[in-house]
Amino acid sequence: MLILGIESSCDETGVALVRCDIASTATPMLLAHALHSQVAMHEAYGGVVPELASRDHIRRVLPLTTQVLREAQLALADIDMVAFTQGPGLAGALLVGAGVACSLAAALNKPVVGIHHLEGHLLSPFLSADPPEFPFLALLVSGGHTQLMQVNEVASYELLGETIDDAAGEAFDKSAKMLGLGYPGGPALANLAEQGDASAFRLPRPLLHSGTLDFSFAGLKTAVRTQVLKLGDDPSPQSKADLAAATQQAIVDVLVRKTLAALRSTRLKHVVVAGGVGANRELRRLLNMECGQRQIKVHYPELALCTDNGAMIALAGAMRAQRGVATPLAHHAFSVLPRWPLADFDSAAA
Ligand code: KG4
Ligand code: ZN
Repeated sequence: MLILGIESSCDETGVALVRCDIASTATPMLLAHALHSQVAMHEAYGGVVPELASRDHIRRVLPLTTQVLREAQLALADIDMVAFTQGPGLAGALLVGAGVACSLAAALNKPVVGIHHLEGHLLSPFLSADPPEFPFLALLVSGGHTQLMQVNEVASYELLGETIDDAAGEAFDKSAKMLGLGYPGGPALANLAEQGDASAFRLPRPLLHSGTLDFSFAGLKTAVRTQVLKLGDDPSPQSKADLAAATQQAIVDVLVRKTLAALRSTRLKHVVVAGGVGANRELRRLLNMECGQRQIKVHYPELALCTDNGAMIALAGAMRAQRGVATPLAHHAFSVLPRWPLADFDSAAA
């Protein structure tokens, strides 16, 4: 079965082709994927401008579709199913992917399925050389979400904890902005942190000892702002690097400690780290070290598939189809769900 996947929930247009054996649950194969990042376009505004994002998705999605078909040496008529990100995300941006996916599927007379963006992220390590085994713990850390999830199987997700305010990626991005770094702030702050000394500043680790698996990053953001104000208008490059390192350490410490607590309470032996912040080197270093000492295996998506992409959406469609839980949209009538809890996935899609 050949699945075309389309992702357009935020500032990346991603299109991919995945092939799977529908008679088994063998891991699907990625045939081609193409991505256009709008980062350069939004940079001037210091963040994503939703209307510009939607318009750019319109420009990119069909050329990217042509590109993946050409790379895989396939034609539109070879596609058996179309999968697209139905939510959560920016409404206008989602509508572009939904419109293209549903009309293409209608024209081809093939099923179209709406995929939850976070399901795409948490299944993405199945496309890596070292795929996880069910059940596993998933740490989802993106610009919009921070969640710990028990993944029993495809379409069986239990939320164990989540952020009560800012997401981890948001904490990176907002702190980077306060430090005068570029957009997106996460990678910029992480790079600067490599030259800094994290012990030069004492920053809070919110909710670390709360006894729950929930996160909070708003207080950390305030603490970073206080330190930035103290540094004054012309901080030395070293003090900026030190503050970047301390901020990164605070975020990473909380993520790792809460993940270990979730592993203890669930007794799971595999953990998947997904979402843009999963690309962070310090997070990987600390988590690998702590899990290594506990005989727990950590799985990451390929670096190129950590941030938003179409491959994870095609993959989620394929894995659902293999298990008989890909629910096609009736009459190819599209809808998007800009706010969509993952736990509601199946009831919402039906
Ligand atoms: O998953 P993603 O591409 O998009 C969303 O669904 O949000 O995640 C983007 C987030 C941004 O907040 C970005 O700053 C952060 O991931 N990010 C990083 C790194 N690379 C991306 N944060 C820390 N370190 C990185 N290396
Ligand atoms: Zn994402």
